[in-house]
Amino acid sequence: MLKNSDSELNIPNHIAIIMDGNGRWAQRVGKPRISGHKEGMNNVKRIATAASNLGVKVLSLYAFSTENWTRPSAEVSFLMKLPIDFFDVFMPDLIKENIKVEVTGFVDDLPNKTKKTVLKAVEDTKENTGMILNFAFNYGSRAEIVNTTKLIAQKVKEGSIEIDDINEDLINNNLLTSILGKYADPDLLIRTSGEERISNFMLWQMAYTEMIFDETYWPDFTSENLVEDIKIFNERDRRFGSVK
Ligand code: FPP
Repeated sequence: MLKNSDSELNIPNHIAIIMDGNGRWAQRVGKPRISGHKEGMNNVKRIATAASNLGVKVLSLYAFSTENWTRPSAEVSFLMKLPIDFFDVFMPDLIKENIKVEVTGFVDDLPNKTKKTVLKAVEDTKENTGMILNFAFNYGSRAEIVNTTKLIAQKVKEGSIEIDDINEDLINNNLLTSILGKYADPDLLIRTSGEERISNFMLWQMAYTEMIFDETYWPDFTSENLVEDIKIFNERDRRFGSVK
């Protein structure tokens, strides 16, 4: 439950979360790994609602990486079905909360039904004006940077830009996250489950992101944990390479 005092917090515009610990959560309660993913999916709804109520502008969730294809095929198939279950159940709530869904990732390489589902969710919420719920699905930052490099090289080859036109703005505009506009760079990254690495997530975008490694497994991560992490973020001194 959010408290009145939370309204005094400086809320990060863009929070990115690496939702880790589903497998260990399941193991702890003696269930198969996939039940951890199912519970993790239910938690997406709870945390997205909490973030939206707090006034977060963009919530990016790392739901499937370009490296996750190497997991056992039954687990991959389950993860590919999660968006279908999620939007089936929660779309009315997302509409009610005025949440706009976006997807950052190589959508064309997804199984057809998953691809259609996520694109439909984007379409169905495109008029919503509230928080952007950005699913990083089949996303990997190195693959994204390779893709961006090819897009820009093609423009140079065609003569529509010169090499000297390549600058940070042009790169930003050709990354998958360009759909997030001025909020493309996360202010705060939270990784749950106690692991301390960024696993190929938004490498370019996180140049000045504050990072918090929260011990909680993702299925157990609550709105109170979110507020606690935002309080820690509020104590950070962000200098962006400058001095105060
Ligand atoms: C990492 O935990 C988690 C994932 C690879 C999948 C995350 C997906 C969700 C939380 C659901 C996403 C919901 C939608 C709607 C797409 P892990 O399996 O690596 O856990 P472990 O490190 O404890 O084994």
